[in-house]
Amino acid sequence: MAAGRHVMRAVRVVQFGGPEVLKLQTDVSLPVPKENQVLIKVHACGINPVDTYIRSGTYSRKPALPYTPGLDVAGLVQDVGEHVTDFKKGDRVFTLGTISGGYAEYAVASVDTVFALSDKLDFKQGATIGIPYFTAYHALFQKGSAKAGETVLIHGASGGVGIAACQIARACGLKVLGTAGTEDGMNLVLRNGAHKVFNHRKEDYITQIKETAGAHGIDIIIEMLANVNLANDLQLLSNGGRVMIVGSRGPIEINPRDTMLKESSIRGLSLFSASKEEMRECAAFLLAGIEAGWLNPVVGPEYPIEKVAEAHKDIIHSQGALGKMVLLPR
Ligand SMILES: NC(=O)c1ccc[n+]([C@@H]2O[C@H](COP(=O)([O-])OP(=O)(O)OC[C@H]3O[C@@H](n4cnc5c(N)ncnc54)[C@H](OP(=O)(O)O)[C@@H]3O)[C@@H](O)[C@H]2O)c1
Repeated sequence: MAAGRHVMRAVRVVQFGGPEVLKLQTDVSLPVPKENQVLIKVHACGINPVDTYIRSGTYSRKPALPYTPGLDVAGLVQDVGEHVTDFKKGDRVFTLGTISGGYAEYAVASVDTVFALSDKLDFKQGATIGIPYFTAYHALFQKGSAKAGETVLIHGASGGVGIAACQIARACGLKVLGTAGTEDGMNLVLRNGAHKVFNHRKEDYITQIKETAGAHGIDIIIEMLANVNLANDLQLLSNGGRVMIVGSRGPIEINPRDTMLKESSIRGLSLFSASKEEMRECAAFLLAGIEAGWLNPVVGPEYPIEKVAEAHKDIIHSQGALGKMVLLPR
């Protein structure tokens, strides 16, 4: 138990709906870690678009109500379950799988989703590793079979997954093209591994990408907004090229014929569907990247927990991403 405390501040959702259903409460029971769980004192929590889909009640995964949102957390270990030997009170950690919810002062997570947080990174950075970096690695290598020397287009490179994908792809020897919707976003993408960047709000940017890719085309596209871009993506691919659908917010019409001559493929992925082995491989690769120094999460806008509803509006509606949003519990 946290220094004799039994209650904490936490965001609660009692019914699915818009951002207004996110309510900050001051009397939420502190979670108690079970045998293989770790109780973390939350210093920062990453805000992911999926938090908003779950909150709206339209996502395939629906938690039992009431619940506390938030999956990616970094902080200090406060307590551990009786079977946990890898961590002790006071350890700096991050997780991508809180069980009790990260928009809170304390959260429990299963020990197999908790990792030591390097002294090279602060807690806000720690809270932005989980879903963005694991997804980027899963998309690039475990599902996309990316190889050194190939050209990758990160279509939507200025946000959480995009920056992660740029850093990873560059570190692994790919030629990295990225897109963003603002000048600041474009500069950020360039500083984080892209060789070249394009503005996805400019009318002629697809032509510019085509010119840059040349006759060979793009080997792999990491797509953040497939409902807008998929038809264009198919025009950009090389022979045998693949579009990896990370994000999509609606339907789109494509011509399947555009995949035939180049024998290209369109593949969707979800980190929630990754196997335990794949997750372990992601973790080993990413932890090595932190130690090597090339994995350096970019923290975007920061929101105090009182402004959680504003954060949820912004992550869906604001333009000009600059890294990953974080929620601060105090
Ligand atoms: N499949 C999975 O397992 C998985 C995991 C994590 C995330 N996702 C999904 O992947 C997407 C990105 O997640 P995130 O955490 O990176 O979100 P984010 O931080 O909010 O970033 C959104 C990105 O999309 C870009 N974007 C906006 N308009 C675009 C357009 N027309 N074409 C291309 N990109 C555009 C934004 O650029 P500007 O703001 O600069 O315009 C920004 O780079 C979301 O839809 C999320 O739900 C899926």
